[in-house]
Amino acid sequence: MLRFLLVTSLILFVPAQAAKLSECAQFEPTVLVHGGAGNIADAKVPFAKLGVKHAARRGYEALQQTGSVLDAVEQAVNALEEDGNFNAGYGAVLNWDGDVEMDAAIMHGGNLSAGCVSLARDIVHPISLDRCIMETTRHQYIAGEGAMHIAQQQGFDILSKGALVTEAAKKSLADFKASLNGSRADMLYGSPGTVGAVALDACGNVAAATSTGGITGKLPGRIGDSPLLGAGTYADNETGAVSATGHGETIMRFNVVSRMLALVQHGNCSMQQAAQQVLQQMSARFEQTAGIIGIDHFGQLGIYFTSKRMSWAYQRGEELHFGVDKDEDEVEIVGEPRVANN
Ligand SMILES: *[C@@H]1O[C@H](CO)[C@@H](O)[C@H](O)[C@H]1NC(C)=O
Ligand SMILES: *[C@@H]1O[C@H](CO)[C@@H](O)[C@H](O)[C@H]1NC(C)=O
Ligand SMILES: *[C@@H]1O[C@H](CO)[C@@H](O)[C@H](O)[C@H]1NC(C)=O
Ligand SMILES: *[C@@H]1O[C@H](CO)[C@@H](O)[C@H](O)[C@H]1NC(C)=O
Repeated sequence: MLRFLLVTSLILFVPAQAAKLSECAQFEPTVLVHGGAGNIADAKVPFAKLGVKHAARRGYEALQQTGSVLDAVEQAVNALEEDGNFNAGYGAVLNWDGDVEMDAAIMHGGNLSAGCVSLARDIVHPISLDRCIMETTRHQYIAGEGAMHIAQQQGFDILSKGALVTEAAKKSLADFKASLNGSRADMLYGSPGTVGAVALDACGNVAAATSTGGITGKLPGRIGDSPLLGAGTYADNETGAVSATGHGETIMRFNVVSRMLALVQHGNCSMQQAAQQVLQQMSARFEQTAGIIGIDHFGQLGIYFTSKRMSWAYQRGEELHFGVDKDEDEVEIVGEPRVANN
């Protein structure tokens, strides 16, 4: 089992009439990220660790600077979308036609506002487009042409076709097509590398974000669990925030994230217990694997995967924890990021 820090501030109840400031010192701000569940190749492990560590730090720094859990998860996911080692933004996997089509969702647990996008193309940061959809439209979920129109209007950098495509993604598609001939039927299609983040601020607000290119060789127009609220992404201050990764078709059918949060809210489960229970049930019923990261509204973490590996990292105070293999929990002391003095 992974060992997690106990949130000691949990037992320091402040009087009900306490000022807002001291209420907001109840929880330890935390940013937790994942870089996808699956068979991460040994050679990719060091890059996956570097990527998730960098993303957790960038998200944490944003949280320190602005106090916004939305900024925290957006910045953390932006870092992974820019990193070609992950299946989101630059480096996203290719559909059957060789194109990148991306899905993403962001959600704030305070007012349950969300922004979701599907079939995004030619932008590095679908998660930032989610945030525009949330903050500038009267909708929660926009796909395809309509979403790209908003990206244009909001001044997103629209790249030329193919700019997000990496050599590794091309090779994965070629390998997948070859595997359909039976010669390598046991090869897992799709590359791990969906990315996600959850964050908690000092007041107990949570947010979640997930961004992905989906699975290699998917039919054009296919949508996975990541942008679906309650399947791959959800955040609610009354329970917590969760981001899932793994076999999208299965995660959406099993409604993984909402089952987990129901266990936290009604089943007297910790986030970690809920994650284990739901993912084990999912694997028993579907023979498919997944991974999740979650944080409850007191700051207790859930990090669990039924896949071979999942890269993850979190920063809380000056501690940066990370891992890729089961039971791995490395710690580095990184120091508080410097915050502008205002
Ligand atoms: C959750 O969000 C609401 C609305 O923004 C806020 O009033 C509350 O303090 C937040 N925190 C908790 C723990 O509910
Ligand atoms: C919900 O809260 C977030 C963060 O403060 C904000 O960006 C969003 O616009 C809010 N949504 C609504 C409908 O007020
Ligand atoms: C599958 O095998 C056939 C016959 O050997 C070959 O013609 C075809 O190109 C192969 N397809 C792929 C995608 O490699
Ligand atoms: C809830 O879980 C805690 C810790 O596992 C346990 O001590 C407690 O008895 C449980 N409460 C109920 C009502 O089951």
